[in-house]
Amino acid sequence: MERDIFRLAENVYWVGVRDWNRRLFDALIPLPKGTSYNAYLILGGGKALIDTVNPGFEKDLEEKIRVITSLEELDYIIMNHAEPDHAGAIPYIMERAPKAKLVATSRGAKMAQVYYHVPQERIKVVRENEAISLGDKTLLFIEAPMLHWPETMFTYLKEDGILFSCDFFGAHLAGGVYSDEVEDLLVHAQRYWGEIMMPFRSMAQRALEKIARLDIRVIAPSHGPIHRKPELILDAYKRWAVGETRQKAVIAYVSMWGSTDTMVKQIAETLMAEGIELAIHNLNVADIGDLAKDLVDSKAIILGAPTVLGGAHPLAVYATYLFKALRPPTEFAVILGSYGWGGGALRQIQELLKDFEVEVVGALEINGPPTKEDIKKIVELGKFLASKIKS
Ligand code: FEO
Repeated sequence: MERDIFRLAENVYWVGVRDWNRRLFDALIPLPKGTSYNAYLILGGGKALIDTVNPGFEKDLEEKIRVITSLEELDYIIMNHAEPDHAGAIPYIMERAPKAKLVATSRGAKMAQVYYHVPQERIKVVRENEAISLGDKTLLFIEAPMLHWPETMFTYLKEDGILFSCDFFGAHLAGGVYSDEVEDLLVHAQRYWGEIMMPFRSMAQRALEKIARLDIRVIAPSHGPIHRKPELILDAYKRWAVGETRQKAVIAYVSMWGSTDTMVKQIAETLMAEGIELAIHNLNVADIGDLAKDLVDSKAIILGAPTVLGGAHPLAVYATYLFKALRPPTEFAVILGSYGWGGGALRQIQELLKDFEVEVVGALEINGPPTKEDIKKIVELGKFLASKIKS
């Protein structure tokens, strides 16, 4: 079988694998289009492998490397990140590459020992801006803490201007070689940012400042297509990292008998009539990756939470928890909900939002289906929220 391998530059190869059928990551993130685990082989006078692959794909990686060179000749295995989707095949490869040293940050070195039992004498710790020469290829290491683990780093191949950016700049897509050939690349990249990088916006800003001094001709992330026109993803990351928002609101809601549904649909209509862009997610069927994507650039959130068993519906609690954990740049919130015989949802959601920097501009809890009076209040609330979003 001919192997799916491609050349990024002279003596630089993609030897990763495509996981077409994976549908969930971290038991949390839906992957509608699978993902890829990108590993790269660099052959100078010395030979280095940048990252490995998810457990289960070790043999695929080995076979691909062997098409180009022998594992026994590898000098370095660069571990940009210790998470198992990239580092899981390290023990397998190191066993077959007896002279290879594992290159990692000092935090990465500790993780490699804990997770993968790599002996200390086979680890080379690198510091910020340290370089390793492979003869005619030079690898420069740039620490990128909390993007998205504490040990993460980027590797920059100086002569070819390629930044191996680990999870940063990635997308969960199994298909696609170059990002400029993928029509909905930015949609998937935004979704990925929302799920993985958004909680670490200040660290992302710092990393973007650090790499601004480099001559970057290609960005080769650990998931998804490679950016040979890096400005596209760099511009998007600059916007997302500073938390640039649109005149947009996200509605995340659940409804048991239609009352909360009527409430959120009324505020949706009011907001749209006021010219506000809207994304509605019914939590019964929502893909939380899509919700994360919409939170990246929304100025407001409307949480629709009916009362059940004396508190907010568990799906609304989950969405509120996720909203806080993802730390989006959302400025305003509205809470809507109905109850049968006793409320409680509104109080619980307000309590959950208490320690999050979002201004709750309105909250309404009603008994049963909304009356004409209730609808009037929702319209007023919608108009007020629209004015806040536009301000
Ligand atoms: Fe793709 Fe954080 O691993």
